[in-house]
Amino acid sequence: MLGRINHIAIAVPILEEAVEIYRDMLGATVSEPQSLPEHGVTVVFVELPNTKIELLEPLGDSSPLASFLERNPAGGIHHICHETTDINAAAERLRSAGARLLGDGRPKIGAHGKPVLFLHPKDFNGTLIELEEV
Ligand code: CO
Repeated sequence: MLGRINHIAIAVPILEEAVEIYRDMLGATVSEPQSLPEHGVTVVFVELPNTKIELLEPLGDSSPLASFLERNPAGGIHHICHETTDINAAAERLRSAGARLLGDGRPKIGAHGKPVLFLHPKDFNGTLIELEEV
C-alpha cells in the first residue's frame, strides 16, 4: 500500500520568498506556482533527484494551512506524500482498520492531477500523510 515518497510538503508564509531560497540560495529547479482553490493552497514543486519538495502557501480565507502557520509562523514540514497504486483499496483498508481519513474520506484530485487522500495525523504519530495514486 505504501510506495515511494512522492514529495515532502513544507508550509510557508510567503511563497515567493521560499522560492527564492530554494532557487537562488540552494540552486534547485522550482516549478511555476499553481493555485489549487479546492485545497486552499498555492503550490510549487522543488525538483530533486530522488523526490520533490512541495512548498505550500495559504490561498483563501478557509485555507487548511492557516492554523498550521499560526502555530508555526516561520513555516514547517506539513505532510509527507507516499505513492500508492490503488487509492480506493487503500482508503477501504485504512477505514476498516479504524484510521481517520480527512475531509469526506473520498480521494480528491491533487496538484499532479491524480487522486489524493489525507490521513489524520493523530492516527499516524503526529504526521499528516498524503497518499497519491500513481
Ligand atoms: Co502534498
